[in-house]
Amino acid sequence: MSLLNKCTAYTRADRVKSEGFYPYFRAVEESEGPVVRMEGRDVIMAGSNNYLGLTTHPHVREAAIKAIEKYGTSCSGSRFLTGTIDLHNELEAKLAQFMGKEACLLFSTGYQTGQGVISTLVDRGEYILSDKDNHASIVAGQLMSASMGVNVVRFKHKSMADLEKRISKLPLEAGKLIVTDGVFSTFGDIAQVDELNRIAKTYNASLLLDDAHSFGVLGEGGRGTASEFGLNDDVDLVMCTFSKTLASIGGFVVGKERVINYLKHKSSALIFSASPTPSCVAAAIAALEVLQAHPELKDQVVNNAAKIRQGLQGLGFQVPDGRSAIVPVIIGDDEDTFTAWTMLYDAGVFVNAFISPATPPGKQMLRTSYMATHEDHHLDKILEVFEAIGKRIGVGQRPAAQS
Ligand SMILES: Cc1ncc(COP(=O)(O)O)c(C=O)c1O
Repeated sequence: MSLLNKCTAYTRADRVKSEGFYPYFRAVEESEGPVVRMEGRDVIMAGSNNYLGLTTHPHVREAAIKAIEKYGTSCSGSRFLTGTIDLHNELEAKLAQFMGKEACLLFSTGYQTGQGVISTLVDRGEYILSDKDNHASIVAGQLMSASMGVNVVRFKHKSMADLEKRISKLPLEAGKLIVTDGVFSTFGDIAQVDELNRIAKTYNASLLLDDAHSFGVLGEGGRGTASEFGLNDDVDLVMCTFSKTLASIGGFVVGKERVINYLKHKSSALIFSASPTPSCVAAAIAALEVLQAHPELKDQVVNNAAKIRQGLQGLGFQVPDGRSAIVPVIIGDDEDTFTAWTMLYDAGVFVNAFISPATPPGKQMLRTSYMATHEDHHLDKILEVFEAIGKRIGVGQRPAAQS
């Protein structure tokens, strides 16, 4: 059997396409943020991570254009060698200061940040303790570490009892990294940073948060989950992406200067990959400036999500309680999920459909997410379509609340 035969045999996506339900790789032809153009018509975007709506903000656009004019389109090299421009250093300094940490290091994507930080910090014989629902970039870091002799211990999603049971059995003196999404990317629930911090301190572990979905949304001024819990100084490391609130692409990690210096000289994801482009870095600097000048944006995104969350719960949909920009609507079945997705799309609303195996059976869902720039009439329209969906395919029982 040839290696590539499995590709020919893979027909699940073709089957779904032939049934007319395929919700993936849909092209956006123009974007104004909360409204995009798809297949020649305006569609309300309720599936983006553009949480503050800054990808089209005039200050951010202008900064990106000016950077291209000054530096060209690419740095054509890694940060380590020819790929550092003054904008990289400027953004690192600004992010470290904003996050209240000694130093910052940029990576070219959020994915590389997770993969690159974890696989560099944890050595053979040491331990990674990782929430089972952590993002794929963290899992990539774990897998790379495991291949180098690191012990990977996965604990039940947000079960502090399970984490404590497992970590308490490890040698106290051994190096340990507890890593978790701050806000989990699929269901939007928030990590128990207070308990994680207590366990880290008790068992001699370092704590790393991935604040991809909480930067700009939670915490004082949008500083993320550690700040939300008043634990900015306690959490050792925070990593994040530019691809959500910061309206760009790239990633960063902040922490103590000695740790960042170590990563800077040891992380292969940094050293062997070209640096974020000038326009991406300039856009992220400008987006950070907008966030700092307009802290009310973070309240707007949370309020918009809250309006939808309450509205959908009122309609009887299975929507967990929460405070992030992500509002998952659990449909519980592949076919119903596609039907609901199609009804939304046909009515001019775009959301993300997650089916098995991406979600556990019974948890197939529509991941909806909101922007500070959604207006009431957008949100009302979304609720109106969901009401029609409820009438057609029914709604389930609300699950137990998640914080
Ligand atoms: C929690 C989390 N970490 C990391 C990433 C990766 O970020 P990027 O898309 O910038 O590579 C994502 C992206 O969805 C994410 O949700």
